[in-house]
Amino acid sequence: MAKDSTRSVKILDLNFRPYIDKKKIKERIKSLAEEINTEEVHNEPIFLVVMTGAFIFASDLLRRINIDSDIRFIRARSYSGTQSTGVVKLEEDYLLDIKDRNIIIVEDIIDTGITLKFLKEGITKFGAKSIKTCSLLSKTSCHTYPLHINYCGFEIEDKFVVGYGLDYNDKGRNLKNIYQLDVEG
Ligand code: IMP
Ligand code: MG
Repeated sequence: MAKDSTRSVKILDLNFRPYIDKKKIKERIKSLAEEINTEEVHNEPIFLVVMTGAFIFASDLLRRINIDSDIRFIRARSYSGTQSTGVVKLEEDYLLDIKDRNIIIVEDIIDTGITLKFLKEGITKFGAKSIKTCSLLSKTSCHTYPLHINYCGFEIEDKFVVGYGLDYNDKGRNLKNIYQLDVEG
C-alpha cells in the first residue's frame, strides 16, 4: 500500500497531490526554532498565532522554543474557497496589553500579504515595540507589496495548498503532509 505522503487526496471537488512531506516539514521547523531561540533570546517575544491555519505549525514550532516567551492566539480570516477575499477581520481584544512588547506573528502561509498588513497595522496601533513574522509557507510571487518574512519555512509557487493546518473550505487541515492543488485534477 502506498504511504500517505505519496498518495494524492480528494477534498470536496478538488484533487491534491503530495507536495511537502511531514519529514521535510519537521526538519525545517527544527532549524527555524533553533534560529528563533538564538536570535530572540533577549527579546521575550509574544508569539501571536494566527488562527486557524497556523495551529499545527505553531504547536510543533513552539514546543521547540526554549526562550522566555508568551503565546497568544488571534483570528484573521480572508479566504473563501481557494481565493483571497481581500477582507480581513481581526479580534483586537487579544492585543490590549502588547504595549512595548516584541511580537512575532506566526502564520501558516503568506499569499497576497493582505492579512499580514492588516495584522501589522492592528498591532502597531496597540504600541508594540517590534513586529516580526514567522510563516511556514510563502507564495512569494503573490505578494502584492514588498514584504520581509523574518522566519520563513518554505517559499512555494503560486498554487493552492492544503494540509498541516491549511484548509480548503475547512477540510484537509488534519492531513500530516502538505498537498498542492492538481490542476489537471
Ligand atoms: P493573504 O492575506 O492573501 O496573504 O492570505 C493569507 C491567508 O489566506 C493565510 O493565512 C491562509 O489562511 C489563507 N491562504 C492563502 N493561501 C492559501 C492556500 O494555498 N491554502 C490554504 N489557505 C491559504
Ligand atoms: Mg491564515
